[in-house]
Order: sequence, then C-alpha cells, then structure tokens
Amino acid sequence: MRKLSLVALALGLGAPAAAFADGDMPRHNVPSSPAGNLVVELCDGETAMEVPGAKPGDSLTRDQAQQVANALMDEWRRKHPAAAWATAASESRDTEPGATIAQNAPVGAQKTTTEQVQTYGAFTDRDRAIWQASTAQLVAEGKRIFHDAAALGGTDGISCDMCHPDAANTHPETYPKFQVQLGRVALLRDMINWCVENPVRGKPFADDDPRLKALEAYIIAQRRGVTLDYGKH
Ligand code: HEC
Repeated sequence: MRKLSLVALALGLGAPAAAFADGDMPRHNVPSSPAGNLVVELCDGETAMEVPGAKPGDSLTRDQAQQVANALMDEWRRKHPAAAWATAASESRDTEPGATIAQNAPVGAQKTTTEQVQTYGAFTDRDRAIWQASTAQLVAEGKRIFHDAAALGGTDGISCDMCHPDAANTHPETYPKFQVQLGRVALLRDMINWCVENPVRGKPFADDDPRLKALEAYIIAQRRGVTLDYGKH
C-alpha cells in the first residue's frame, strides 16, 4: 500500500476560521496546498493537513484515512495538552432504546423492571416493543453512516468514527452552546454538518435529510443517562 507522508500545513496567522459563503451557516476556510494536494481540516476549523500524493476528490483507503485522522488528532492534542479526549468507547453507552440505566447496569445493580411488563395508558407492551424497534433502527442507521465515509457523502475516505470511536467526544448533551469555530450558538446538527464538510469533505446535509436525523439519533443514543447540560464547555 502506498505510504502516506503527512505534512502539517502552516496556516496564515489571523486567517478567519470560517468563511460566511452561501447560506447562513459558516463554511470552513481551508487553506489551499501550493502543490494542489488534498487538504483536510479538523472540526476545530484551525488544524489542517496536506496529504501529499492525494488530490482533492481522491478517496483514501480506510487505512490511509485513519492515518490522516490520527495525524490530525496528534496535532490537535499537541495544541491542547490539557484536553480530555477519550480514545476508547468507554465514554459512550451503547444501549437499547427505552431501557433505563438500571436495566443496563451490571446484574446485581438492577432495579425491579415491573414498569416494563405493565401496559401504559392505552398502549400495550407490543406497541412499546414496536416503538423501541423503530427507534433502534434509526440509531443503527446513524451508526452505519457515522462509520462509513461514502454514506456520509465524504470525498476523502475519512469517517467520524476515526476520531470519535462510538461517538465519544461529541458531547451532544452540551448543545445548544456557543461554538467558537462557528462564531455562534450551535445545535448538535450544526456541528455535525460542520464536521461533514471537514474533515470528511462532504456536503453539509439539509435540515430534513434522513442521514442527518439518523446521525443525530445515534450520537444522542450513545450518551444515554448523561445529564443534559446545555451551554457547557
Ligand atoms: C480527524 C479527526 C476527526 C474526525 C474525522 C471528526 N471529528 Fe469531530 N471533532 C474532532 C476534534 C479534534 C474536535 C474538537 C474540536 C475543537 O477543538 O473544538 C471535534 C469536535 C466535534 C464535535 C463537538 C464536540 C463538543 O464537545 O461539542 C462534534 C459534535 C463532532 N466533532 C462530530 C463529528 C462528526 C459527526 C464527524 C463526522 C461527520 C466528525 N466529528 C469527524 C475530530 C474529528
């Protein structure tokens, strides 16, 4: 396999993090490579890397894409030595929809589950099973897209999981909050779209795009039980 050598691109000091081009949301203002190579920028709107030997529009293999993702994250960690960034899935919780935290806790820590076998109002357990199955389906679809560069509409082969294993470090519970790279208060979906544009180098999804809904569902599902704390940094 072709070995990638990665070069951090020196960004012009004072360059705006984002350009306000089409529409309301800012877009990445990615520096261009003098050699015409592919340049990938991180979700921070600051850290960019040139990928020698690859041109914009070239899709990397999964291994190569992971190398680029790792190199970008190395650079980001150098800039933020104090930042906590989970590298494993331990931060996230992959649980079934409708389950309570107690039900997902290890045996012994479980509370009674009588609530689960009762009918609730006019709804039966069968209704609830159907609701849970359809919710699980949406979450599974989001998981698939999150792990699949092509499904994300990406052009460089990088997918979200390469830096956010099991959606770790996405912190959906902290939205809405002010995001410096966007220069505004953002919803989770704004941040998803920003990261779809870079580092994935795809086109941001329309608000009603089923892929955006699925991604949102998956990311939120991974943080079950975490207290909502909008505006938190
Ligand atoms: C190459 C590594 C990389 C990839 C790939 C990546 N991200 Fe990120 N992401 C980061 C980093 C680093 C940050 C923190 C940026 C900062 O400093 O604010 C971040 C931040 C975020 C945040 C904000 C987290 C918070 O604490 O508020 C969300 C949400 C997010 N990414 C979602 C995604 C999604 C969705 C994708 C795929 C479309 C994706 N990211 C792809 C590295 C990556």
